[in-house]
Amino acid sequence: MRTLFIAVGFLVTSVSALAQSTAQERLKTVQGDPAALRAAVEAGRKASFFCANCHGENGISKSPDVPNLAGQNPAYLLEQIRKFGAGERKDQFMQGLIKVLKDEERLQIALYFASEPVSPVKADATQVARGKELFTKLCVRCHGDQARGGELYPRLAGQKLPYLQSTIMRYRDGTGIRNNQLMTIATAPLKNEDVTAVANYLTQLP
Ligand code: HEC
Ligand code: HEC
Repeated sequence: MRTLFIAVGFLVTSVSALAQSTAQERLKTVQGDPAALRAAVEAGRKASFFCANCHGENGISKSPDVPNLAGQNPAYLLEQIRKFGAGERKDQFMQGLIKVLKDEERLQIALYFASEPVSPVKADATQVARGKELFTKLCVRCHGDQARGGELYPRLAGQKLPYLQSTIMRYRDGTGIRNNQLMTIATAPLKNEDVTAVANYLTQLP
């Protein structure tokens, strides 16, 4: 019985890893072909009309707890869509919604939002210097100098302040809503006031 559980667990993990690598490979192929990329962005613009209700027409969300998708790395967007679909990232609405998207639509939408520009916003100026110091010490090696990330590392520059705060705390506090070991370790040293500082620094970056 035990062996069966292990075997089934292994199979589920392998199938999900396979789904991830196929989608990511397909993304690279489309990105490497300018005409296919243009067509995918155009199709994504149309396919994302429903997403705009919350994430904004150009991927700049209008509500504080909904993340901007504009300028986000497409590989990261695609991976988060996969995680919602697989129940590895929890959000009741997003988990349900993602199930109705076909594989190709997921890819097109990720490429469309990634192609839109991000606009930085004002932050609490008294927090920025401390936030920069923390970011440089604890985060820069994965998220990059300008906090633009790359591939599966998300862009954080210009992201919504309350979303950044609650997301960082979810990783740190092991809530199970977001699951990533690298992030749990990286955020462990942060006190609540550090989270506020680093989020203020990130939201005002271009
Ligand atoms: C009813 C509002 C709503 C709609 C409509 C919606 N989303 Fe979301 N989306 C959210 C919220 C809220 C979150 C943040 C969940 C969390 O706190 O982790 C989110 C998160 C995401 C993320 C993760 C972004 C990140 O930075 O990690 C992606 C990707 C995403 N949505 C894609 C989509 C796509 C694609 C559509 C359209 C098919 C869509 N969403 C429609 C509310 C919405
Ligand atoms: C060792 C690499 C690594 C380090 C160091 C790291 N991160 Fe991350 N971060 C990641 C990865 C990978 C993800 C995507 C995880 C997932 O899929 O949920 C992520 C996700 C995030 C997100 C979610 C973004 C979104 O759009 O939802 C935030 C916010 C974040 N990191 C902030 C930070 C901060 C602040 C620090 C420093 C205290 C930090 N990270 C340090 C690798 C890292």
